[in-house]
Amino acid sequence: MMEKLTFGSEFLFGGATSASQYEGGYLEGGKGLTIADVMTAGNKKQARTVTWRDPLTQENKQATFGLHGPLQIPRGVELMPLEDFYYPSHEASDFYHRYEEDISLMAEMGFQVFRMSFSWARIFPNGDDAEPNYEGLAFYDRVIDLLISKGIQPFITLQHYDMPLNLVLRYGGWKNRKLVDFFYRYATLMIDRYQDKVKYYMTFNEINVLDNVPFITAGLINNSEQDKAQAAHHQLLVSAMIVDFAHQLNKQIQVGQMFTYQPTYPLTSDPKDTLAIMEWEKKSYFYSDMQVKGIYPTYRQKYYQRHQVKVHMEPDDLEIIKSYPADFIGFSTYSSGVMTVHDDKGEFVEGNMVRTIPNPFLPTNAWGWTIDPDCLRIALVTLYERYQKPLYIVENGIGWHEQLYEGCIINDAYRIDYLKQSLRGIHQAINLDGVDVRGYMMWGCIDLVSAGTGEMEKRYGFVYVDKDNRGQGSGKRIKKASFDWYRQVITDRGFND
Ligand code: BG6
Repeated sequence: MMEKLTFGSEFLFGGATSASQYEGGYLEGGKGLTIADVMTAGNKKQARTVTWRDPLTQENKQATFGLHGPLQIPRGVELMPLEDFYYPSHEASDFYHRYEEDISLMAEMGFQVFRMSFSWARIFPNGDDAEPNYEGLAFYDRVIDLLISKGIQPFITLQHYDMPLNLVLRYGGWKNRKLVDFFYRYATLMIDRYQDKVKYYMTFNEINVLDNVPFITAGLINNSEQDKAQAAHHQLLVSAMIVDFAHQLNKQIQVGQMFTYQPTYPLTSDPKDTLAIMEWEKKSYFYSDMQVKGIYPTYRQKYYQRHQVKVHMEPDDLEIIKSYPADFIGFSTYSSGVMTVHDDKGEFVEGNMVRTIPNPFLPTNAWGWTIDPDCLRIALVTLYERYQKPLYIVENGIGWHEQLYEGCIINDAYRIDYLKQSLRGIHQAINLDGVDVRGYMMWGCIDLVSAGTGEMEKRYGFVYVDKDNRGQGSGKRIKKASFDWYRQVITDRGFND
C-alpha cells in the first residue's frame, strides 16, 4: 500500500556544492591559487596528482596524494599549475559566470537552502594578506543577495578542500599556528559582512578526513601523527573561536561542525571485526566529540601518548574549545562500509575518502560506492544518540556515468530511487526514532567535479552540465528527470512511497 511520507514545514530541502568543484574562475577577480588549483584530474584507476617544476632540470613533475599515501614531494618545491596538465578546478562548472542561471534553476526546484563554500583565496588571495580582495567580496555579495531574493537560505562552508596554496608553501599548512589567525580574520570578516543575511556556517568540510587525507583538509605534506594532531588542534580551536564570534555578533547565527560519517558493518561475528570498527570510528569521532563535547577524549589522549605526540597549546586553548561547542552537526553520508580482520583476498572498495571491503548484500555504483538503503537512518540515529544536537545532512547523493543524447532527457531513475531511499531513511529517523533532523542538501545538485577523482563525468546533479573530463563542452545546463521529481517532492513536502 502507498504511504505518503511527509516532512514538516521547518525541514529544509536543498542542494550542496563547493567552490573548487563548482565555481571555476580560478584566477578571475583577483582570486589566488588554492591547493585544488594544482590538482590534476584522475579517474577510478588513476589517482589525482599535484604538480611542480623541478628547479634544476625544469622538468614537469607530479605526485599522487589521497588514500594512496602521503604526498611524496621534495622539500621546498613550489607546487604550481603547469601548461601540460589539466586542472578541473580552474573552470569547474563555471558557477562564477553562470550563477544567475544556476540559482534560477535551484529556485525553480523550490530549494529552501543552498550549501556552497566561500573560497578563502578569493577573499585573501594568499591567505595571509593584510587587506581583503574587494572584487572577491563583491562576487559573493551578488550570489548571497540573489539567493536571498529567491527565498533560498545560504548555508556556507568556510573551507572546503581548497585552502590558499601560499599557506601550504610558506607556512606548512595547518600545523602552523599562524593559520588560526589568518583563518579567523577571513571567517570573521565574512560572518560580519553577511550577519543579516547568512544564518548557517560550517568551519571545515569533513574535518575528520584530516586523519587519512591530510593534504586536502589541512595542507600537510607529510602524514606524521605529530603534524596531524597539531593541525587538528588548530582547526578545532579556531572553530570554537568562530562560534564565540558569531554568537556575540548575532544570536541567530549558527556555526556547525562538519564531518563525514559512513556506517561500517563487521563482516563476521568475530569480535575482532567489531573491535577493528571501534578503533576506526574513534578516529572520526575525535573531531565531533571535540566540537560538541569540548574536551580531548581519553581515547585520543592515550593514542597520542602511544605515538609520542605532543600537541602544543596556549594556556586558554582548552578553555576556549570547551566553552564554545558547535551549534549543530552537518555531515555527509553516501554509503556504508564493511570491515574485517579476515580479509585475505585484499579486495577493497573505495567509499567517501575511505577504503573498505565489498558488502556481499549490496550493489555499488561504477566507482564502487555501496548503495545502502539504510545507511542514512543508521547514521542519523547513531549521531543523535551520541550528541543530541540538531543534524543537517549536508551531503548525500550518487555519482553516475550519464550520456546526453540530442533531444532526449536523461532519465536518472537510479538517482530518484537512491534519493527515495535516503528520504525514507530520514523520515524513519524523524518519526520512528525521534531524531532532530533539520535539513537535506543533495550533493552536487548541479553537476560538478568529483573531489575524489577529479572527473566531471562522475555526475551527481539534478542538472546536467555539458562538460567532459577534459573540460570540453558548452557548459550548457540541462535538466534531468530527477529535477522535476525533486521539485515535486519539495512542493508536496514529501512523496508517495
Ligand atoms: C565529500 C566531499 O568527500 O564527498 C565532496 O565533501 C565530494 O567535496 C563528495 O565531492 C563526493 O565525493 P566524490 O569523490 O565523488 O566527489
